[in-house]
Amino acid sequence: MSKELVVDPNELIVSMTDTKGKITYANDIFCTLAGYKKEEIMGKPHNIIRHPDIPRAVFKLLWDRVLNGETIYAFVKNQAKSGDYYWVKAYVFPIMENGRVEEIVSYRKPINDYAKKVIVQIYALLVDYERSHSVDESVAFLVNYLAERNLTYDQFIERLSMDKQVTNAEAINVDRKVHHDTHLIVKSNILKRVKDGEAAIKVPDACECEFGKWCESVRHESFTKCTSWSNTLRAHEQYHANLREYVSRAKNGESGDRLRALSNGLDEKIDEIFEYLEDALDHCE
Ligand SMILES: Cc1cc2nc3c(=O)[nH]c(=O)nc-3n(C[C@H](O)[C@H](O)[C@H](O)COP(=O)(O)O)c2cc1C
Repeated sequence: MSKELVVDPNELIVSMTDTKGKITYANDIFCTLAGYKKEEIMGKPHNIIRHPDIPRAVFKLLWDRVLNGETIYAFVKNQAKSGDYYWVKAYVFPIMENGRVEEIVSYRKPINDYAKKVIVQIYALLVDYERSHSVDESVAFLVNYLAERNLTYDQFIERLSMDKQVTNAEAINVDRKVHHDTHLIVKSNILKRVKDGEAAIKVPDACECEFGKWCESVRHESFTKCTSWSNTLRAHEQYHANLREYVSRAKNGESGDRLRALSNGLDEKIDEIFEYLEDALDHCE
């Protein structure tokens, strides 16, 4: 059974390669972790420590960037000679001479547990995808996967690198306050139009509002498996149904306690949606 090796946060793991990926330099801690003597790895391709759990797409992104004179951060699981493994966050950058890439350097540090948890899932998805797709398709899949969460690759890495525990909410970039306040604003606007006697007022369905669309876009996330998430969706549906009922009754000339109760309950329902959401995001795996 292979085991995970501990990476000391006080150490900087360094290696360098030529433009073909052959190792030209490795520091002591690199060799200690990988379990190779320096002379064993000098001149060898860097994939000597490649772990099969890392999708090809990650290395494609890495090589495209550095050969283009750019830098990149990547989360990488490496395999030591013994079969054990260790996770690092690598900062990879080219050394340029007369506008050409001469050598490439990688600095590595350990990664936090949260980043590991998230990255393991995404990499597993990509490795599986790569069984039947090309590496370019896999890169597109990753970019698209992150774009659906309003993240670029660099933003994604940055978020996962935060020292504090990153919540699901931050990782998927949802602004709860904006959605909450938008519901209040739309509601006030609709109630005003009802009061002004406007005839054609359309109350959007829950799935039509921006929050409803966001709910749909995250339906595969792990936090949607919990009761708080079902409660979020239910409260959101109820809110839209109550607003629709209010508009329809008011337009029919109804007034009185039932209508007032409906109107008064709308703000509470909005609060309820986002309390459940907070719970779903903060306490669910
Ligand atoms: C400076 C530098 C450092 C690299 N470090 C690693 C590394 O630590 N682990 C790794 O698997 N690949 C690393 N690579 C990428 C490898 O060169 C290679 O692309 C990768 O292992 C995939 O190999 P494969 O396409 O033969 O499967 C590094 C590349 C460069 C330029």
